[in-house]
Amino acid sequence: MIDRATAERIKDTADIVEVVSDYVHLTRRGSNYMGLCPFHNERTPSFSVNRRRNFCYCFSCHKGGSPVNFIMEKEGISYHDALLHLAKKYGIPVEERTLTDEERQLQSLRESMLVANEWAMNKMHADLTSTDEGRDVGMAYFHQRGLTQEAITAFHLGYALDRPTALADAARSAGYDIETLKAVGLVGVSQHGSLYDRFRGRVIFPIFNTSGKTVAFGGRDLKGGPAKYVNSPESEIYKKNRELYGIYQAKNEIVRQDKCFLVEGYMDVIGMWQAGMKNVVASSGTALTDGQIALIHRFTENITLLYDGDNAGIKASLRGIDMLLSHKMKVKVLLLPDGHDPDSFARDHTPEEFRKYVEEHETDIIRFKIQVMLTDAGSDPLRRSEAIRSVVRSLACVPDPITANVYIQECSKLMDVDEKIISRETRRIRSEMLEKIRLEKRFEAERQRLDNDPSSDHPLSSPNLEDKSINQDCATTVSNTQPMAVSSPLLPLEKQVARYCARYGVMDFCEGLDAEGKPYWLNVAEYIQAEMEADKMEFTNPGFTRLLQAVTDLRDRYLDDLGHIREELESEKQKKREEGIASIAAKELDISSIEREEEALDKRLEEEAMEEERLYAASYTGRILASAEDDFVRRFACECLADIKPLSRRFDRMGSNLPEHERLIDLVPRAINEWKQGNLHLSISRLTQKIANAETNGDHEAMMKIMEEISRLQRIQKEAAKAIGDRVISPRSKF
Ligand code: CTP
Ligand code: MN
Repeated sequence: MIDRATAERIKDTADIVEVVSDYVHLTRRGSNYMGLCPFHNERTPSFSVNRRRNFCYCFSCHKGGSPVNFIMEKEGISYHDALLHLAKKYGIPVEERTLTDEERQLQSLRESMLVANEWAMNKMHADLTSTDEGRDVGMAYFHQRGLTQEAITAFHLGYALDRPTALADAARSAGYDIETLKAVGLVGVSQHGSLYDRFRGRVIFPIFNTSGKTVAFGGRDLKGGPAKYVNSPESEIYKKNRELYGIYQAKNEIVRQDKCFLVEGYMDVIGMWQAGMKNVVASSGTALTDGQIALIHRFTENITLLYDGDNAGIKASLRGIDMLLSHKMKVKVLLLPDGHDPDSFARDHTPEEFRKYVEEHETDIIRFKIQVMLTDAGSDPLRRSEAIRSVVRSLACVPDPITANVYIQECSKLMDVDEKIISRETRRIRSEMLEKIRLEKRFEAERQRLDNDPSSDHPLSSPNLEDKSINQDCATTVSNTQPMAVSSPLLPLEKQVARYCARYGVMDFCEGLDAEGKPYWLNVAEYIQAEMEADKMEFTNPGFTRLLQAVTDLRDRYLDDLGHIREELESEKQKKREEGIASIAAKELDISSIEREEEALDKRLEEEAMEEERLYAASYTGRILASAEDDFVRRFACECLADIKPLSRRFDRMGSNLPEHERLIDLVPRAINEWKQGNLHLSISRLTQKIANAETNGDHEAMMKIMEEISRLQRIQKEAAKAIGDRVISPRSKF
């Protein structure tokens, strides 16, 4: 525990503008500062910081408070740890008395994962620079790829020794819990139950979040093995689609230059950094996500995408542009000469040449899109009108009407289409989009209304301990008048569960046990329902409850329809089989060849039929719900159908990424678990905050009670993680 005088000193010293600036690009507005809220994705700034009163507040999501509150929320840590965090920032010495067992227990899982990662990052960096193996293998590789010592240090690159358990053993003797190393994915468990280092024999690219915490690693193979990169799995501390490689090293430079380069890979970031363009981050090979754009947008609104100039690169550069435009980003695209990625280009050119190339070849993204689409369409009128429509859809994503107008004029010239027509079409599409957003806002309002209704409290939080004193910690916090949007972080989690239900609810999922212990098949929706019942969870949005009901009600109708489809597929298969056999016969082969060919034919036909059936099953739920009577259910289903992500080119090629409906056995339990964990996490952090209050008031009895409650929730949290594995008894091999 931190003694009171030190705690006061830390609170007095911490300056809200300085603290927030570590995470948010602030601009001055009168006596306040404004920036994009770091707690939710937004496109126009509603996060305000007041230096005189030393607090911050988001007008949109209502989060905020003192520097301590801000750090707690942003880093997801306790009151106590937030004080430590600030003490470190301001160099205030803290003498802590030793922790009791109970307090030790309170140290969050998150914290220990970050500590383990930080330790591993330092160890692997040391192994790179000061072991023989590290120098001979890892360092030799980096040097051969032209990396300087400066870059190796700045990015804390490392090397994982090539022994089965070098890291696991070192962790153990340094006193780290192996469970934590498993949780962050540094250590894996083989089929026979033995531990192994997941990154062994690879060079290591640590991934830092904006505040410099090591949240994940990428490990590159050096031996030409099948997996070029191994990456840390998603975890409590690593949400892939919210992080960008290089952001920690780049953020100051991004602000200074008011511009960010976006590349694909780890080496591309480092290559550009070495060429003096340090305002560069990577999306790590996947399509850019909303969360990543929001992250960049906190520092700048100018972004330049760098791609290989081959066809795949051009396609990739067009993919995310609507999303970027709707975030009010000013987007440019830069194609490198065919066959070059930024890393190789940087190696073949001097920094001056690279810089010059950038200046001369950066193109505004809409102009770029028009050129590419029109060239591609040639003189074919049908494809031309398709191209125009696609450009207009992008124009409709531009939020600022003045910018949009400039584009419209330019489009009209370049595409040789009447300006009025483009303008009208753009308005029409835009109003459709706005209607969709309004709809979402209505859901949100409804949810808030339900949140404020005490009868709909989360079943997992403990109502007897929830009272208004939660927010009385800090006089400057605005939370007293505007309750922190307590469950807003949960809505996306429950929505994800509902989404799987709307898309794939009727698909066979896993075997469950009935009251007498007899096995029976559950479909996705029934599985979700069983999980929710087991943990007394409810959707906060009543629409989702109706959706779940609608899907479970579909079961019989689906089985009926499936029966018909199977008959159809069977007779089609027979027909194809006869044709196939006839054509094999016509080849006049010897008997054993005929046998082999017929066998292959049967196998192929069986697989085709199964594939057809799976696709039918995978699209059934959404298709039926898309014409449901219930307005909410129908709209939500349509929305879900609209955003099923196409496969990424990169993983397609590697053949390792199955379509979503083939990975449900993984995805659905994970989504439920994340929702469950979110629920618990929220309850725990509310209680942790209350401990601080109780402490301030010297109420030790209350403190004990809250601590008991916290450890109860933490037990549930642990069990929840395990239970997922237990309840899925036998995943059907088909999926
Ligand atoms: N990537 C990944 N997992 C894979 C493949 C790629 O995470 N299995 C990510 C990595 O961040 C990688 C980026 O996608 O840096 C780009 O992939 P690729 O172009 O294949 O690799 P390079 O970065 O070019 O790596 P190198 O130059 O070392 O071959
Ligand atoms: Mn490369």
